[in-house]
Amino acid sequence: MDRGFLFGDGIYEVFPAYDRMIIGLDSHLNRLQDGLDAINIKNPHSKDEWKNLIDKIISFDSINKNQAVYLQISRGSDENRKHTYEELKPTVYIQSSAIKQRDKSSLLNGMSAITREDIRWLKSDTKATSLLANTLYAQEAKNNDAEETILYRNGIITEASTSNVFIAKNNCIYTHPKGPIILPGITREKTILCAKANHMSVEETPFTTRQLMEADEVWITSSTREIIPITTIDGIQISNGCAGPIWSTLYDEYQSLKS
Ligand code: PDD
Repeated sequence: MDRGFLFGDGIYEVFPAYDRMIIGLDSHLNRLQDGLDAINIKNPHSKDEWKNLIDKIISFDSINKNQAVYLQISRGSDENRKHTYEELKPTVYIQSSAIKQRDKSSLLNGMSAITREDIRWLKSDTKATSLLANTLYAQEAKNNDAEETILYRNGIITEASTSNVFIAKNNCIYTHPKGPIILPGITREKTILCAKANHMSVEETPFTTRQLMEADEVWITSSTREIIPITTIDGIQISNGCAGPIWSTLYDEYQSLKS
C-alpha cells in the first residue's frame, strides 16, 4: 500500500561519494527539501540526521570507496489505494552501490546520443520518483547503443533523460536555464562553477536543436556520470568527432572536487 509503489508518489536523490566523501552534499539535501516541499511531504529527518544516515550507509561497503547513494522518500502507506491522501508517515528507502568510473582516456572519442521530443510534465524540476517518461527515453538510448536521449521542446534543447546538456560554441558555454522544464542538476551547477573558475563564459540561456548539431562541443552532466562528451547525435558527427578542449579542462577541474 505504499504510495511510492502505487503512484510513484515520492522524491529521490542520488548522492555521489568519492573516497567516501559526497560532492555537493548540502546542495543535494537542499534539492531534496525543495522536492518534498513541492509535493507537500514533511521531511522526516533534519539535515544532520540525513548526513549521519548517508555516512552510515557508505561505511557498510568496506570495498568500494566510490559509491552512489540512492535515497527515496515516499508519502507513505495508506489503508487502501486512493488517489487522495491524508497525512501519512513517509517511507524512507536508502541504498548505495559502487560507482563505476570511466577513465578520461575512454571518453576521448566521445559517446553518441539520440534526440526525442520532450513530452514530460511541467514540473520536471521536481526530482519525483515517477520517472516513466525518463525511463522510456533512457531505454530508447540503450536500444540505439547510445549514451543518452537528448530532449527538445518546441525546438529548444531542455535536458536529457538522466542528465543535463551543455554545448560550447566559439568559446562560450550554453545550457538551459533553471525552471520548471529541467532538473536543476547539482553536476550542472558544479560544471558552471568549474567553467567560471577557468574564466570561461557561460550563458544559462536556451539553445536550439540546430545549435546543438552545429556546436563545437556537446556534453552531458550527472552525479553518477560526471561530464561525458557527446560526439555523435542521431548518427551525425558533431564538430570533428572528438571530445573538445573545453570538456577536457572541465573534466580535470571536476576531478579536483574529489580531493
Ligand atoms: N539523474 N536531469 C535529469 C532528468 C536527471 O535524472 C538527472 C540525474 C540530472 C542530473 O542531475 P545531477 O547532476 O544532480 O545528478 C538531470 C540521476 C543521477 C538519476 O536519476 O539516477
